[in-house]
Amino acid sequence: MKASVRARIRRAIALLMAASATCVHGSPAVDITVHADRPGAVIHPEIYGQFAEQLGHGIYGGIWVGEHSSIPNIKGYRKDVVEALKAIKVPVIRWPGGCFADQYDWRDGIGPRNQRPVRMNGSWGGEDDNQFGTHEFMDFAELIGAKTYVSINVGTGSPRDMSQWIEYITADGHSSLAQQRRANGRDKPWKLDYVGIGNEMWGCGGSMRPQFYADVYSQYATFVHAPPNAPITRIASGANAGDVHWTDTLMAAAGSQIDAISLHNYSIPTGDWKHKGSATQFGEDQWISTLQGALGMDDLITRHSQVMDKYDPKKRVALDVDEWGNWTDQDPDAGDAVLYQQNSLRDALSAAITLDIFQTHADRVRMANIAQMVNVLQAMILTDKSKMVLTPTYYVFDMYKVFQGATNLPIEVEAPPYHYGNAKVPGIHAAAGRDVAGVLHVALVNLDPHHATTVHIHLVGPHGANLQGKMLTAPAITSVNTFSRPHEVEPVPFDHAVLKDDVIAADLSPKSIVVLEIH
Ligand code: AHR
Repeated sequence: MKASVRARIRRAIALLMAASATCVHGSPAVDITVHADRPGAVIHPEIYGQFAEQLGHGIYGGIWVGEHSSIPNIKGYRKDVVEALKAIKVPVIRWPGGCFADQYDWRDGIGPRNQRPVRMNGSWGGEDDNQFGTHEFMDFAELIGAKTYVSINVGTGSPRDMSQWIEYITADGHSSLAQQRRANGRDKPWKLDYVGIGNEMWGCGGSMRPQFYADVYSQYATFVHAPPNAPITRIASGANAGDVHWTDTLMAAAGSQIDAISLHNYSIPTGDWKHKGSATQFGEDQWISTLQGALGMDDLITRHSQVMDKYDPKKRVALDVDEWGNWTDQDPDAGDAVLYQQNSLRDALSAAITLDIFQTHADRVRMANIAQMVNVLQAMILTDKSKMVLTPTYYVFDMYKVFQGATNLPIEVEAPPYHYGNAKVPGIHAAAGRDVAGVLHVALVNLDPHHATTVHIHLVGPHGANLQGKMLTAPAITSVNTFSRPHEVEPVPFDHAVLKDDVIAADLSPKSIVVLEIH
C-alpha cells in the first residue's frame, strides 16, 4: 500500500476515534483546518488595545479617584482596576478622545491639580476639572505597562499646540517645555508611541471633506517631531465605517506621510442610532443582529484594505481600528455616567469574533482599541464607587492574550450557518496562531444559542501532543456580571476536547467561546 493511502486511512481512523469519543448527538458536522505549516503575519499585541475617553465615569471614578480617596489607590489610580488591567496585558491605551480630543487643550491638564481650570465638556456634557491630564495619563500607561496613544486636537487646536505638547512629553535636554515638565514632577521624558491627527474629522472633529482633511493632515504630520530612536506613529483620522472614498482620497493625497489610517465601527443592535436597543433586555433577533454587526468588520477591513493596496501594495500603512464595539442605549439608571451600558454574553461573543477578524487581517491591522476601557460602552470593567466588576468582554481579552505577538495561521471553517428569522451568520467562527514559544492556539466561537456542535480540527503541520483549553459561556444570551453577582459569566477549564494524532474533536456548548492550547 502506498504511503499516501496509508496516511489517509490513518487520518480517517483517527477522526472516527476522536469523533466517537466526544460526538454531540445530532449536531451537524463542522470541519476546521488549521494550516500550522503556513505561518502568516505577526499578530501585533496592539490589536488588543483599549480606548479611554474623558467622559462620563470612564476616567473619573473608573480609573482615577485621586490620592486622597477612601477607595484603595496607587497614587490616585484605583488599585483594583490597575490590577485587573495588568492581568490582561493591555498593550496600548488611546486617550483623551474620541470627540473630546478635538476640544481639549493639553495645557489645562498640567501643573498643580488644585490650580487646573474647570471646563465644560462640549462633546459629552458636564464639566471636567482636568485632574486627569498628561502626567496622569502617561504615568497610568507606564503603571500598567501599556504603550501610549494620544489623540491630537485638530478641530479647535493648531499644529503649534500639537508640536509643543509632543515636546513637553518627549523632550530631553533643556528646552523650556522639558523644564516645565520637570517642574511638574516628571524628570525623564515619556515614550509617546502613537499620535492620532484628529478624530472623526468627517463629523465631531470638524465636519471636513476628505480633500480638505488630507491637506490639514499633511500640515500637522509635518510638525510631529519624534526624538531620535523613539519614533511616533502618525495616524490619520479615517473613515466612518464603509466610506472607502475617504480612504482613497487620503491615500492619494497624503499617503506618503501617513503611517496608519484609523477606522471606526460600532455594532448597534437595532441598527438605529436613535433607539439602539437595550444592553440587557433583548431577544434572539438582537442577539443575531449584533453578532452580524460584529461580523461586518471583516468586510469593512477588506474593502478599505483593497483601496489601500492600490497605493500601498506592500502594506506599509496600517489600518488601525481605533474605535470598535457594541453600542446600546445608555443604562436607564446611569445618571451622569454618560454612555454607561451593561455587558452581557452577547458582548463577549462579539468581542471574540472581532478579535478573530483582526487576527486574520494581521498583515494590515496593527492596532485596535475597543470602546471603551471602563464604564463606557463595551467596557472591560464596571465600577460603582468602591465596587468593581469584570465584564464578559474582559474575560475574552483575558483568554485571547495568548495571541499577542503570535503568528497568524490560515484557517478554513466548513460549518452550517445559524439562522434566526431572515438573518443568517456562520455557525462557528475561528482563528488560530502560533506563539513565540511555538505553542498553537485555536479560538472557537459557537454563535448558535441553542445547539452544541462537535468540531473536528485538522492540524496540518507541526504541533504538540498535549491539549488544554478554556471556555466562556453562561446560562442565557443576556447573562451579565453584576456587583452583587460578579461570577455569572467567567471562563472555566474546557475538557470536552480530545487530540488524536492530527485531529482535535471538540464539543462546543451553545453560545460559547473556547480557546485551545496545543503544546
Ligand atoms: O466612543 C464614543 C464616541 O464614538 C467617540 O468619542 C467618537 O469618536 C465616536 O463617535
